Amino acid sequence: MNFHTNPRLLYLTSLLIFVALSLAIAIYPAIEASKVPPAPGLEPLSPSAQRGREIYVAEGCSYCHTQQVRPLPQDQIFGRPSAPGDFAYSTPQLLGTERTGPDLANVGNRQPSSTWHLIHLYNPRAVVRESIMPAYWWYFQRKDQAGPGEVVVPVPDAWKPKGKVVVATPDALALVDYLLALKQPAVSAPSTGAGK
Ligand code: HEC
Repeated sequence: MNFHTNPRLLYLTSLLIFVALSLAIAIYPAIEASKVPPAPGLEPLSPSAQRGREIYVAEGCSYCHTQQVRPLPQDQIFGRPSAPGDFAYSTPQLLGTERTGPDLANVGNRQPSSTWHLIHLYNPRAVVRESIMPAYWWYFQRKDQAGPGEVVVPVPDAWKPKGKVVVATPDALALVDYLLALKQPAVSAPSTGAGK
């Protein structure tokens, strides 16, 4: 075949290879993955947790945190190995590749206190002295006094402006709802055979 003299043939052949590869390595696996039933006990995200997930994506939390527990001894502290059914309600998955911070696949079980999460997001150093995680203070307001119904975050005095109270915005509460929803259901199904 004279590819070098027939640009149309060259173009059509490349296009065909591109479409075939896209189907084989992206579209077909995505369709298969979307058929996986949710793991028993897995709950869909509430609207607020869904909003929190959008903030998680927007803030790039995935650049430092994974949400996938590998079947390796060093991952046992994060929970049981992840199974496909764990991700049924969270597509596209936020698996992540970097672990500058701990894996968050099971953080809702490991750290169930919303107050802890709010203080930690306002300034991680206030609860984990050596933390290198950025402070997400723009999700909080510093006020002289909290208004009715507002959630006051008990940030230690050393970490907030003198005489002010720190109030969580709805976005901060949504992000924490999302973190608390990151729970691995106790039984893993359907099994991948991982970890055996
Ligand atoms: C620059 C990297 C970095 C980014 C970006 C980052 N984190 Fe972290 N995160 C860390 C590190 C390091 C730790 C461990 C120290 C600590 O607890 O603060 C951590 C800890 C945590 C913990 C506690 C986990 C546990 O097991 O105790 C949570 C929850 C968390 N991060 C959530 C978030 C969220 C939500 C975002 C985005 C808004 C985010 N992180 C962005 C580095 C990061």
